[in-house]
Amino acid sequence: QCTAAVILAAGSGKRMGSNTKKQYMLIAEKPVVYYSLKTFQESFVDEIVLVVSPGDADYCKKEIVDKHGFDKVRHIVEGGRERYHSVAIGLDSIPSCDFVFIHDGARPVVTQDILERAYICVKKYGACVVGMPVKDTIKIADTEGNIASTPDRKLVWMIQTPQVFSLSLIREAYHTLLQKEQELLKAGISITDDAMVVETLTGHLVKLVEGSYENIKITTPEDIQIAENFLT
Ligand code: CTP
Ligand code: MG
Repeated sequence: QCTAAVILAAGSGKRMGSNTKKQYMLIAEKPVVYYSLKTFQESFVDEIVLVVSPGDADYCKKEIVDKHGFDKVRHIVEGGRERYHSVAIGLDSIPSCDFVFIHDGARPVVTQDILERAYICVKKYGACVVGMPVKDTIKIADTEGNIASTPDRKLVWMIQTPQVFSLSLIREAYHTLLQKEQELLKAGISITDDAMVVETLTGHLVKLVEGSYENIKITTPEDIQIAENFLT
């Protein structure tokens, strides 16, 4: 069975507020996106599509992919405005495969164990996302900043990547998403992960699979130090 990965590195990192895009910031002398590429390169995954910002492809090919011998990276493509645009472009570049791992290049602490758990899950259920139960109590607020409700903490998960799907299912879901994009925008629905595309636009259930509390997304400056501690 063929398994592909789409690794996303086409964001602009607004919340990081640094001159260097966060996916290229250095942790122990390597750019952030190097770490997830390495983990996927060394895994059972057959091929990788790397999605980068317009203008970054040459740098990524030379300084990250070729330099480290990441020969599973078959395509480096330019992403789009929103994350879901970048995913749709990445999915279009995968040749026929059975399963696809969609992973944020901004999550450098993903491990082989996580990939394996997600793979076992997707072979059984067709749609799986990695996450962890929350540790803090979560509140839903109203628009005035008052607490509106408190969901049962046992049922609240923080969602990570990879998010893993049968390729035909996720392609179909993204195809529908792009068709209905205007409608969803008008309804004020913002698509922030891949599971949401499947939940909202197909009848398919999405299974949760255990990630790790270390599998953080580099988002704001303090995350660099935290990830460095986990990686070294
Ligand atoms: N991403 C992408 N294309 C986009 C937006 C995001 O490929 N148009 C990628 C990012 O590079 C990152 C992942 O999706 O690996 C998760 O997105 P996020 O953490 O939101 O990164 P940014 O959008 O870059 O950061 P910010 O939201 O702070 O601007
Ligand atoms: Mg973003």
